[in-house]
Amino acid sequence: MNIIILGPPGSGKGTQAEKLAKKFSLFYFSSGTLTRELSKNDPRIRAIMEKGGLIPSKEMSEYVLSYLGKNSPQADNIIFDGYPRLVDQYDLLKKWVEGKGKKIDLAIFLEVSEAQVIKRISSRRMCAQCGEIYNLATNLPSGEVCDKCGGKLIRRKDDSPESVKERLFLYKSSIEKVIKKLDEDDLLQRVDGDREINEIQKDLVKLLESYERN
Ligand code: AP5
Ligand code: MG
Repeated sequence: MNIIILGPPGSGKGTQAEKLAKKFSLFYFSSGTLTRELSKNDPRIRAIMEKGGLIPSKEMSEYVLSYLGKNSPQADNIIFDGYPRLVDQYDLLKKWVEGKGKKIDLAIFLEVSEAQVIKRISSRRMCAQCGEIYNLATNLPSGEVCDKCGGKLIRRKDDSPESVKERLFLYKSSIEKVIKKLDEDDLLQRVDGDREINEIQKDLVKLLESYERN
């Protein structure tokens, strides 16, 4: 089973995808985690990300497919967070998966209002070491450091108000076309992401279980 999870910045893609990956033993792929790793040694990528821009799409696909080829070459049981987010990325991913005799089974679209994502992003914290996601209002760590690894909790550089504005703008300019394509391929499931984390997760678990049975 291969699943794409998409939605606006701060909609909870990472939060939900990580839980689903654990529950269903999926390989969790986060394009944001990959680019954050790349940015450590590449000032150009770092500068694009800090401003809230996107990595040029063709280049991004090369990074992603090369990473997946090394880390999840069977092209199955993967949950994709943050990639694809443009139609050309979707086409390339589909081609890669199908080239391995597999398919994309489901695309979960987390629908969350802009006001809500801005609120969530402004109180997000991330572990600088392992990338675990927290929120000072809704998803607190038990202490001052990461519960998982004891790492320092930081604000993402691209969570500044100016970068979030740009990220939302880029999201809004591209999402419609991707949604249309996923709908045409009969993969799209819209989920109300404007609810409490566990409530959303319960629905997603039910959804995946229904796909597993078929
Ligand atoms: P990426 O890291 O993918 O950023 P994004 O898409 O903007 O999404 P976020 O990670 O900000 O949000 P999320 O939906 O994962 O929410 P989260 O679970 O953290 O990409 C970063 C950058 O990398 C891009 O800007 C670009 O530069 C580059 N890049 C990546 N992919 C690319 C691509 N395909 N092409 C080109 N460039 C690419 O939740 C947010 C907060 O809310 C957290 O604090 C969480 O605890 C909390 N929360 C979650 N759910 C709930 C809830 N239901 N209720 C209350 N709080 C909640
Ligand atoms: Mg994320």
